[in-house]
Amino acid sequence: MCGIVGYIGTEDSKEILLRGLEKLEYRGYDSAGIAVVNNEGVHVFKEKGRIAELRQAVDNSVVAPAGIGHTRWATHGVPSQENAHPHQSTSGRFTLVHNGVIENYAILKREYLQDVTFKSETDTEVIVQLIEKIAAEGFNVVASDAMAMLQVTDQYVELMDKETVIVTKEGVTIKTLDGEVVERAPYTAELDASDIEKGTYPHYMLKEIDEQPLVVRKIIQEYQNENNELHIDADILGAMDEADRIYIVACGTSYHAGLVGKQFIETWAKVPVEVHVASEFSYNMPLLSEKPLFIFISQSGETADSRAVLVQIKELGYKALTITNVPGSTLSRESDYTLLLHAGPEIAVASTKAYTAQLAVLSILAAVTAKTRGIELEFDLVQELAIVANTMEVLCDDKEEMESIALQFLATTRNAFFIGRSVDYYVGLEGALKLKEISYIQAEGFAGGELKHGTIALIENNTPIIALATQEHVNLSIRGNVKEVVARGANPCIISMKGLETEEDRYVIPKVHETLSPLAAVIPLQLISYYAALHRDCDVDKPRNLAKSVTVE
Ligand code: AGP
Repeated sequence: MCGIVGYIGTEDSKEILLRGLEKLEYRGYDSAGIAVVNNEGVHVFKEKGRIAELRQAVDNSVVAPAGIGHTRWATHGVPSQENAHPHQSTSGRFTLVHNGVIENYAILKREYLQDVTFKSETDTEVIVQLIEKIAAEGFNVVASDAMAMLQVTDQYVELMDKETVIVTKEGVTIKTLDGEVVERAPYTAELDASDIEKGTYPHYMLKEIDEQPLVVRKIIQEYQNENNELHIDADILGAMDEADRIYIVACGTSYHAGLVGKQFIETWAKVPVEVHVASEFSYNMPLLSEKPLFIFISQSGETADSRAVLVQIKELGYKALTITNVPGSTLSRESDYTLLLHAGPEIAVASTKAYTAQLAVLSILAAVTAKTRGIELEFDLVQELAIVANTMEVLCDDKEEMESIALQFLATTRNAFFIGRSVDYYVGLEGALKLKEISYIQAEGFAGGELKHGTIALIENNTPIIALATQEHVNLSIRGNVKEVVARGANPCIISMKGLETEEDRYVIPKVHETLSPLAAVIPLQLISYYAALHRDCDVDKPRNLAKSVTVE
């Protein structure tokens, strides 16, 4: 019930609002009102009864180009002029019309508005008074992560190393250790509160796995210019082009993304790349080339091991690019350049959508760098990534099958091995990490050809071997490696790609561009890990001993 109209434009709003209300009168006609705003302020006219009565009450000398109107069907409070909308807060700063019922209005009134004198009996006035109260209240919060306080503000000020902050209700004063006051403008956290809710999903991890097709599409959009061409900031491209060698530094899943990124950059842009585990690099720095460029990959942008390397290489005067999901994170701030993942907050400790986002961004960086270097790729990356996103969707929809694979191979096993060659090896490393971190199955990834040099000794009757076969040039070799472990009793689960499949394969991924296959191939591994953990009663989102953001060395 009740009807609402609003107008903003160049004409006088009164008549437009009144005519609109007349059309809505069927929704309620016990009272009505309009509030119009011009340079002099807000003018409220309201009356008990029909719109015709309201017309009589309106002061025609007021001309105002914006306004709101309401026709009422009484719920809280009798039909009267006082109870008619619009309602205003005590100071007149806020004016509100409302349709519906504020079910907890009495609690709000009792808990927050005891000192307010109400003019009406309506639930609506409680809201407009509450808005005024909150707006005038003045508060500040502190948090390790903006998302913790999103329900109260989207305005944040970063605190840097060696700074102190005095927080009061009225303000925030940042000082250096020498007592110098630091002026720093707040930034707006572009996070949607709904992004950090699980919604109808039982776990964040499953939600985040399902978000991957969307994330890839978002990345395509974010990195396209107005001509729909893939675009990377010119400074970054300059740095990529100048470098005689790229050093990718990262940890865990981000390190695995770096391994695939190396493949993209070397294959397409023809720049040599080394990929390093951050915690090793900082104590054992390799001999650097003459013109190195450092790429830090970090979902959180806060990983201490990666940051330690960043500090070191900055001291040496080298340039750094950070690829991260968190704008304003430490690694992003302290690097020369940043590329954002646009994956939305990743809450589950096991990284899923950040990994595929890292691969998508790295592929774009590689392709655009290739173009800058005059190298023409034989395919359209936007098109290929769009195919990847569609394929991801198909894979995410095949959850029953993934669950049955998990039950068949991983329900009770003590250990599991992932094998692959070329980029499949790197995806296998990520699959093994996913499985071990959330299901506590001892899972390890190996290069297919490396097994016979030692690891094969671990194969026992029924040991699950998850083998990836998405690469044509190593298809026969990886299948040979599978035969070797089967001959020793292993239980093989071959995941191949359409066009390379054989009858023995347990799951076939639809065809995508071969170099981009990690973006698709990782999804069955994520889902299998998820279901294995679920059936083993593990805490999927918060596995033991781990933390989402590893800010200690
Ligand atoms: C992966 O599932 C883990 N959460 C972990 O390996 C993670 O990728 C690693 O700690 C690096 O974190 P970062 O990407 O935030 O730097």
